[in-house]
This record gives sequence, structure tokens and C-alpha cells, in this order.
Amino acid sequence: MLAVAFILVLLSCGILAWRRRNRNKDEPPTIPGALPLIGHIYLFLGIDPQQLWNTVKKEVYRTMNAGGVTSGNIGLRKVYFVTDPDDCLKIANTCLQKDDFYKFAKPWVGDGLVTADLQTWKVHRKLLTPAFNQFVLDGFIDVLNRQAHRLVKNLEVEVDKGPFDHFTYILPNGLETTCLTVMEVDFSDGGLLNSEYVHATKNMLNSMVERLVNPWLYSDAVFNWSSLKRKQDEYVKILHNMSNTVLKKRKAEYLNNKLHKGTEYTTKGPKFRSFMELLLELTIEKGVFSDREIREHVDTMLFAGHDTTSTSLMYTMLLVGSYPEVQQKIFEELHDVFGDDDRDVTKQDLSRLVYLEAVLNESLRIYPIAPVMARKLDQDIKLRNCTLLKNRTCFLWAYGVHRHPMWGPDAEEFKPERWLDPATLPKCPTAFAGFGMGRRYCIGKTYAMMSMKITLAHVFRRYRVFGNHLLMVTKFEVMLKPVSGHHIAIEIRKKSVKNET
Ligand code: HEM
Ligand SMILES: *[C@@H]1O[C@H](CO)[C@@H](O)[C@H](O)[C@H]1NC(C)=O
Ligand SMILES: *[C@@H]1O[C@H](CO)[C@@H](O)[C@H](O)[C@H]1NC(C)=O
Ligand SMILES: *[C@@H]1O[C@H](CO)[C@@H](O)[C@H](O)[C@H]1NC(C)=O
Ligand SMILES: *[C@@H]1O[C@H](CO)[C@@H](O)[C@H](O)[C@H]1NC(C)=O
Ligand SMILES: *[C@@H]1O[C@H](CO)[C@@H](O)[C@H](O)[C@H]1NC(C)=O
Repeated sequence: MLAVAFILVLLSCGILAWRRRNRNKDEPPTIPGALPLIGHIYLFLGIDPQQLWNTVKKEVYRTMNAGGVTSGNIGLRKVYFVTDPDDCLKIANTCLQKDDFYKFAKPWVGDGLVTADLQTWKVHRKLLTPAFNQFVLDGFIDVLNRQAHRLVKNLEVEVDKGPFDHFTYILPNGLETTCLTVMEVDFSDGGLLNSEYVHATKNMLNSMVERLVNPWLYSDAVFNWSSLKRKQDEYVKILHNMSNTVLKKRKAEYLNNKLHKGTEYTTKGPKFRSFMELLLELTIEKGVFSDREIREHVDTMLFAGHDTTSTSLMYTMLLVGSYPEVQQKIFEELHDVFGDDDRDVTKQDLSRLVYLEAVLNESLRIYPIAPVMARKLDQDIKLRNCTLLKNRTCFLWAYGVHRHPMWGPDAEEFKPERWLDPATLPKCPTAFAGFGMGRRYCIGKTYAMMSMKITLAHVFRRYRVFGNHLLMVTKFEVMLKPVSGHHIAIEIRKKSVKNET
């Protein structure tokens, strides 16, 4: 009897509290099916990453059909879903603070740029931006070519062997590349650290999703006592072992260089200072970063530098394998630029590979590896048809933005050609959100495009690729990842006699 009374009181309190929260007249439409107290939690409680992606994808389409903004309830907490590109732009540039959900990644990447609180981000982004300028990036072209050669060579064993998982080749290669360029350390001897690191990354991302679908674990006070936390601690130990190893090596080299070359080491113009040099200088000479902060920047760049480009390359190769006429056009462009030569790709070549770039853009549009971003609203925001309230979570869905009607009636289709005709492209700058939205966009965008173009130029010169992306099943593993159906097959293109001998 007492229990029933208690439940009734709880229920009515919940309904009252919930009503109060809904008093905003200008509220966007609510996703149907919210229950008292728990809201929409039952829709995603304990489900796996593949079910989670199916569930949220359905809500993304619902939001698009409802005019671009909806709201949902995680318990008593209200969250917004936004798929309208103009509204996303306004939100992204008004509120630069990432949402509390990003704290799930903090045991790993702390206050690195992706997860940093606004105050830290403002200072650190400005300090680190020079490490990704064109002068520094040009210095990577040789390494990127060498790594692309290695990948092409490694893929040889799969020629004419039928479908295989190309991601297992691309990912380790991508991690090596990030280490060689951004970190300036060489782990390409296939060290244990690499495969352990790759495993731990995947486990860590999955544990973050597990926390997401179990809302009682949102609070650190509860999470800290869970078995999931203990598992995460193990993954984090491996991940930090990698960043600490990188730092130890580079720190020793930095100090050694300084000792032998005196001031010469730091007289390199600021335009040419690489990420690692900049980090070490800011830490050792200027004391701007603490030991914890420098490690968090390394952890962030290690992950953001390799998993992103590798996953995008995987999708792009699958998509190109699915559209022979696209592949033919890529090959013709490559032939125009390189003839039958399999020489290195130069800086000048890069600006000529326009169609290849359109293919990359289009592939990121169809499969945005970061399908959603979340901001914490630090003020009320008036949008065209509604007002979003302060202190709430706002999910910005790149996946929906990329399918907005402003892309035209063929928005769901893979059509690289759309990028080549400015008249058919949307005018809104956030209509393409593959590299993020507004001022907190990806710091590595130019690096990533350059790296991916060089890799693909080597791959498509040498191989013809076959696949069918329509058979692919995807999941939400923080990033958009394939479950199955993503395999490709390759065969060698006929080369000129010169190259065969
Ligand atoms: C195809 C490759 C890539 C894609 C699609 C991509 C995508 C993105 C996206 C969507 C964001 C915004 C995340 C958010 O708002 O939550 C972002 C941020 C970021 N990316 Fe990338 N990225 C790529 C490559 C890279 C590379 C190569 C690096 C570094 C070497 C990098 C470093 C970062 C960093 C540090 C941020 C945080 C920026 C900030 O908040 O100031 N990314 N990226
Ligand atoms: C948004 O507002 C405009 C103008 O008031 C209206 O025409 C449009 O139908 C509204 N859209 C939605 C989805 O409510
Ligand atoms: C770091 O990794 C190396 C190589 O796998 C291993 O030998 C070492 O014990 C690890 N250190 C820690 C603290 O886990
Ligand atoms: C949870 O644990 C982390 C360390 O793993 C600690 O920094 C944090 O303060 C703890 N939070 C609470 C609320 O106990
Ligand atoms: C690819 O997208 C970027 C926007 O991120 C754009 O500036 C660039 O012109 C596009 N490239 C092509 C070839 O359309
Ligand atoms: C903001 O929201 C959080 C939960 O997301 C809540 O704990 C906090 O009390 C709220 N703050 C204000 C000022 O409403």
C-alpha cells in the first residue's frame, strides 16, 4: 500500500516537473512516445551500437520531416535534435561549449581540443593552429607518398582473391602515418604498441557508447563504482602508454638537439614549427602546458589523426568500388596528371586532382564519420521556428544536415559531380559538416584532405576496386563504423610496358 502511494507521489512529482520544463511556448515538437519520468530512455536503454544507430537514424529522419528541430527527454532532462543547416550554423557559432556527454571521453583525452571546455579551448586552439599551416603540411608530402606506396604494396596479397576487409590494411598504415607526420616518431616496425593501441581505442569507444545507453552511469559518482569504469581504466592505461612513449622519445630528442645545436633548434621560423616541436617548446621553454595537458594533446591528435582519415578512406574505396563510372573518371583524371608514371604525388598535382577531391567530399557527405556533435547551450537561442533553452544539450546531426532538401531531390544519392557545379551546391556553409560546424571545426581538415588524396591517387592508379556499399550495415561507435558488408575486392590495372619490367 505504502509502495503504491510512494510510486503515485513520485509519478505526479515527475509529471509536474516535466510540465514545468515544457512551459516554453516556442518549444520545438517533441519526439512522440515520451513516458513520465523516464522520457525516451526506454528507446535506447542497453541497446547495442548497431541498434543505437538504427534508432537515432529514425529520429534524425523524423526531425528532418518535422522541419529540422525536435526535442526528446532523457529522464527529466530535455535534449534537442537539429538537422536544419542554417539552425546548426547559428547554434554552432553561438555556443562553442561542448556538451557534458564529451566528458565520457575525458579519462582518455582530457582537455585536448576535441573535449576541452570553452575557456581552455580558446587559448589552446590559438596556440596549436600554426602547427597545421600549409608550410608545415607541405613538409609531410614525402612521408605521405611513402606510406601510400607501403599501403599499395601491402594490398598486393589481396589481388584477385575476392572480397576482403581493406580497413585492416588502412588503419595500421594510418596510425603509422600519424605517428610519422604529426608526432615525428617511427613505429612502422609493427611494434606491439600499435596493435594494442588500436584494440584499446576500439574498446574505449565501445565503452563510451555503453555508458551512453545506460543513463544511470552518466553521473561520475555512480560510474566510478561500476565495472565499466574498471574496464575503461585498463583501456586508458594502454592508450596513455602510447602517448607517454611518444612523448618520452620526443622530449629526449628535443633536449638532446637543444644541447648540441644551442639556440639553433628554436630559430626555425614559427611558420615551420611542427606540432610536436610546438608542444614541447610551449611545455619546456614557456611552461604554458602542464605534463598532463601535453599528454592530452598527444592523445587527442593520435586518435583524431588516424581513425578519422582511415575510416573515411575505407568508405571512399567502398563507394568508388560501387560506382564503376565514378572510378573510371577518377582513373582518367589520374591518367591526365600522371600518365603511366607511378611517381610521387606533388603539391602541384594535388590542386589538379579536383574530381578525386569531389569524390572525397561526397563520400564524407554520404557517410560522415562524425555523424553527430553535441553542444551545451549557454544561452537561449531563437531559431526560425522555435526557441531553444539555455543549459540544455543540443545534438547537431551532420548526418541529417547532409541529406537536407537544400542538397536537391537527389540528396541521398552518391554524386561527386554535384561538387563541380557551384549552381547546384547549397549556399549555407554548414550544409557540408563532414569536418564539423562553425568555428570549432576540425583543425586537421587540410592535412586530412591532402593525406587522403595522396593515398587514393596511389591506390586507384594501381588497382581497380569492386564493392557494394548498399549491402553495408553500420553502427554508432561514437564514430559511424561498418558492421559488415563493407568488404572490397581488387584487381591490378593494366600498366604500360615500362612499368611491368
Ligand atoms: C577525414 C578526416 C577527418 C574528419 C572527417 C574529421 C572530422 C572532424 C569533426 C567532425 C570535428 C568536430 C568534432 C566535434 O565538433 O565534436 C573534428 C574536430 C577535430 N579534429 Fe578532425 N577530422 C578528420 C581528421 C583530423 C586529423 C587528421 C586531425 C589531426 C591531425 C584532426 C584533429 C581534430 C581536432 C584536434 C579537432 C578538435 C577541434 C577543436 O575543437 O578545436 N582531425 N574533426
Ligand atoms: C516554420 O515557419 C515558417 C514560417 O512561419 C512556416 O512556413 C513553416 O511551415 C514552418 N516549418 C515548420 C516545419 O514548422
Ligand atoms: C607499455 O607498453 C609496452 C609495450 O607493449 C610494455 O612493455 C610496457 O610494460 C607498457 N607499460 C605500461 C605502464 O603499461
Ligand atoms: C571519479 O574518478 C575520477 C578518477 O578516475 C576522479 O578524478 C573523479 O573525481 C571521480 N569523481 C567522483 C564524483 O567521484
Ligand atoms: C570539398 O569541400 C570543401 C568544403 O569542405 C570545399 O571548399 C571544396 O571546394 C570541395 N572540393 C571540391 C572539389 O568540390
Ligand atoms: C543545468 O543542467 C544540469 C543537468 O544537465 C543540471 O544539473 C543543472 O542544475 C542545470 N543548471 C541550471 C542553472 O539550470
